[in-house]
Amino acid sequence: MSGKKMIFSGIQPTGTFTLGNYIGAIRNWGPLQDEFNCIYSIVDLHSITVAQDPVELRKNSLRAYALLLACGIDPKKSIAFFQSHNKFHAELNWVLACNTQFGELSRMTQFKDKSARHADNVNAGLFTYPVLMAADILAYNASLVPIGGDQKQHLELARNIAQRFNQRYGDFFTVPEPYIAPLGAKVMSLQDPTKKMSKSDENPNSCILILDEKDTIVRKFKRAVTDSDAEVSFADGKDGINNLMTIYSCFTGKKFDEIQNEFSGKGYGDFKLAVGETVADALEPVRTEFARLMNDKAYLKECYMDGAMRATKITQKTITKIYRKVGFVDAR
Ligand code: TYM
Repeated sequence: MSGKKMIFSGIQPTGTFTLGNYIGAIRNWGPLQDEFNCIYSIVDLHSITVAQDPVELRKNSLRAYALLLACGIDPKKSIAFFQSHNKFHAELNWVLACNTQFGELSRMTQFKDKSARHADNVNAGLFTYPVLMAADILAYNASLVPIGGDQKQHLELARNIAQRFNQRYGDFFTVPEPYIAPLGAKVMSLQDPTKKMSKSDENPNSCILILDEKDTIVRKFKRAVTDSDAEVSFADGKDGINNLMTIYSCFTGKKFDEIQNEFSGKGYGDFKLAVGETVADALEPVRTEFARLMNDKAYLKECYMDGAMRATKITQKTITKIYRKVGFVDAR
């Protein structure tokens, strides 16, 4: 793991990944594996900030791991592991929490949104969620963090925490940069294109899950909310069409003017069908590979145990140095 720069990113195992997760984050993770040392985690500790059924969580976590590999993460090239398998994330979380201000956490928009949505469970973990995220990244001295646009504010906070620690205790942490792809940083809901596509949306038609079957994907795109115009073009006020054009562009590599030409004179119906079929066909190999991996639980276990071991080894060294910097007595 020497020489190359470090990359860290994570995804929560709260159900199947969405097309938003895929376009905004995971599809960018695979191509980074040759140039960087990549560490990708199923962040199960984060997921319990919202109430989870334990049986479902364990099932979803294993599925999420298999899906990560099915999306092109190679567990030999990268470190792919469950966050809860490396106890140093939680240890660093504590040190960083003591270097984070209440006011900073109160300004996090995701905390405001989630505490409004789960008013009966505004727990302390939900509030300190971004500190654990900072610990995930800083534990590996990652310099780059590939994320969708909605995680930008959390990354800013991680940078502030790193800078503050460095000022207080002497330069130690790499200050991480976000890596946000120019196209698809925010994939919108198919039913309300002013809102982000999210698996927690109550309307199943709003969201494409990457394990959805082809006919489901096509049907959801057919039902996508657009506008009363009829021309496929990217413009202000055409949020639904803009979103579909972005998705189509991500999968075909076509520019917006090419897409406009391709569908000139045709209606929205033809366009929606083309987007649906393109997305479904592109995700087909992911579904096939996922099914294959889920039939080989022994292999999955081998991969995530190996990932945990490698991740723990890196962070053990980091945490020892941090404890010394902070002033704890050496345990050796
Ligand atoms: P999570 O699990 O909500 O989402 C995983 C990744 O998917 C991106 N994403 C989207 N991108 C574009 N359009 C959308 N509609 C969309 N929805 C989700 C997210 O930006 C994210 O990159 N807190 C993080 C997980 C995390 C993490 C970390 C990330 C924990 N520790 C350290 C990076 C580094 C989260 O809840 O992501």
